[in-house]
Amino acid sequence: MCGIVGYIGHRQAYDILIKGLKRLEYRGYDSAGIALSDSDYRVYKCKGKVSDLEAQTKDQNINGKIGMGHTRWATHGEPNDSNAHPHKSMNGKFVIIHNGIIENYGKLKQGLEKEGYTFYSETDTEVLANLIEFYYINNRKNGNSFTPEDAVRAALNMVEGAYGLVILCEDNPGQMIAARKGSPLVIGIGKDEYFIASDATPIVEYTNSVIYLNDDDIAVIDDKGLSLKNLKNIPQKPAIHKIDLELSEIEKNGFEHYMLKEIYEQPRAIRDTYRGRLNFESKFLRLGGLHNVFKQLTEANRIIIIACGTSWHAGIVGEYLFEEFTRIPTEVEYASEFRYRNPVINKGDLVIAISQSGETADTLAAIQLAKKAGAIVIGVCNVVGSSIPRETSAGVFTHAGPEIGVASTKAFTAQVTVLTMMAMAIGQANKGLTNQEFTDLIDELYVIPDKIEKILEKSEKIKEIALKIADSTNSLYLGRGYLFPVALEGALKLKEISYIHAEGYPAAEMKHGPIALIDEKMPVIVLATKDHSYDKIVSNIQEVKARKGVIIAIVTEGDTTIKEMADYVIEVPHSDFALAPLLTVIPLQLLSYFIAVERGCNVDQPRNLAKSVTVE
Ligand code: F6R
Repeated sequence: MCGIVGYIGHRQAYDILIKGLKRLEYRGYDSAGIALSDSDYRVYKCKGKVSDLEAQTKDQNINGKIGMGHTRWATHGEPNDSNAHPHKSMNGKFVIIHNGIIENYGKLKQGLEKEGYTFYSETDTEVLANLIEFYYINNRKNGNSFTPEDAVRAALNMVEGAYGLVILCEDNPGQMIAARKGSPLVIGIGKDEYFIASDATPIVEYTNSVIYLNDDDIAVIDDKGLSLKNLKNIPQKPAIHKIDLELSEIEKNGFEHYMLKEIYEQPRAIRDTYRGRLNFESKFLRLGGLHNVFKQLTEANRIIIIACGTSWHAGIVGEYLFEEFTRIPTEVEYASEFRYRNPVINKGDLVIAISQSGETADTLAAIQLAKKAGAIVIGVCNVVGSSIPRETSAGVFTHAGPEIGVASTKAFTAQVTVLTMMAMAIGQANKGLTNQEFTDLIDELYVIPDKIEKILEKSEKIKEIALKIADSTNSLYLGRGYLFPVALEGALKLKEISYIHAEGYPAAEMKHGPIALIDEKMPVIVLATKDHSYDKIVSNIQEVKARKGVIIAIVTEGDTTIKEMADYVIEVPHSDFALAPLLTVIPLQLLSYFIAVERGCNVDQPRNLAKSVTVE
């Protein structure tokens, strides 16, 4: 949440910052701002999008080879001009941008008010800017050589909470300071130039050498280069990584929206996720990232999956897969509940944390709790270099590529692919699966991308259905077994991008309450592919029909029974029912997309949301 970008080097910073902010806008889009520095610094900021900021700066002095920019997802204070970042300290000595939350900002603010500080915004960030300035001014009063870096360190030692920060000081116009705790920061290293950003997307155009800051790191960059120390002032050795990210991966490439592009990328994302791990010809499956812990995995007493949002839905699919293929008892928890409810975690329990961004604050905190309790914690993440893979001892990356649309699509199917392979690998090893079942699954998984391509070819038909129900105010998604989490995911996709109220339910639960909602205005999206509960779902459809609900059924190709009952059907190819989530979710993603477009919603940047939830 919130996007940060900074530049220090030989080029004009403005264009780099604006372009970087546009790439980071998916992290928050309530307001935007920049600070530029040459001999002095100038701050421009406003409520709204980066394009509003561009308009505001059109006739301004935008010179400066040092600068920083911010795009905000509001935590403290409504989105308006004064709450927008950058924030200046009261005497103008410091200007800062911040991603995260300063939890003890109230207490710090009271202390600063006693010292005569006044505040123009409602933000925790302005408190931090003033705290840094307070230490700076007070320690220099008696001729002390206290530096801006010393002041930043003194202030950060007082702070509770999370931050990714970039700081400029008026007295050192050729210097930029960056600090991290909890919220991600990456430093790109070019030739005599440095880039700072919340993730690699604004950097990749200029360099592929990066340093991922660790918690408690403070980096100082000036004409002497980069120095890295921690909060205790102990020098740290920067580890330089190479990022493997192409510019084309973060562009729309002709699609109207990132979300649509990402829906269409799913066959490629799944192939990339199983490539090199699953060999169709030799029927071999190996997950290199689990090699060191694989024996422990096969002997685990219990599996606990922790995640949030869409990743949590993938986790429920995982629960069904693990129990079926490995017979190891599996539970799925919202990371936010797990971390605060004193859960039972035993040594030898296997905890799987699922996260697209690898930065979700609740998931990170839940991992730390599980590690402390002695569980083996493994990560399933999409973003290489993010916090969760660095916090876990083993894991499997999803190779979905950068997901820019705020609504998660290809990350979900890539996560389900990884969980399927994990369950298959453990099931093969602990004999939860027979050899025949294992090889059949390999064959089935291998052709899933081809089957998704066939579904994508039906997008015009799905669009027609979408237009028919785009005016609805409520909707219900029903599924059983493996398709229950898909119903949850379908409902989440619809509500988050189209603002239509949607609920996902296990189909049999409908008659325990939600059936009361059904009337002729209520679209009921039923996941009804052929599996062992097919007859039951047919009965559920009849129950909806009897109450005049509008039925949109996702069925297996060639189904005739449901075709006669449903108002609309969308066919998907046949598959093993354990793999059906990978197919049935596709029409639901497209349905939500076309409905949201029809309603004029901002599909890639839905209101109030942001990608990468780095606050709890
Ligand atoms: C919904 C969506 C969110 C995320 C959730 C977890 O479309 O994207 O619900 O799934 O915020 O994010 P990650 O997977 O990054 O931990």
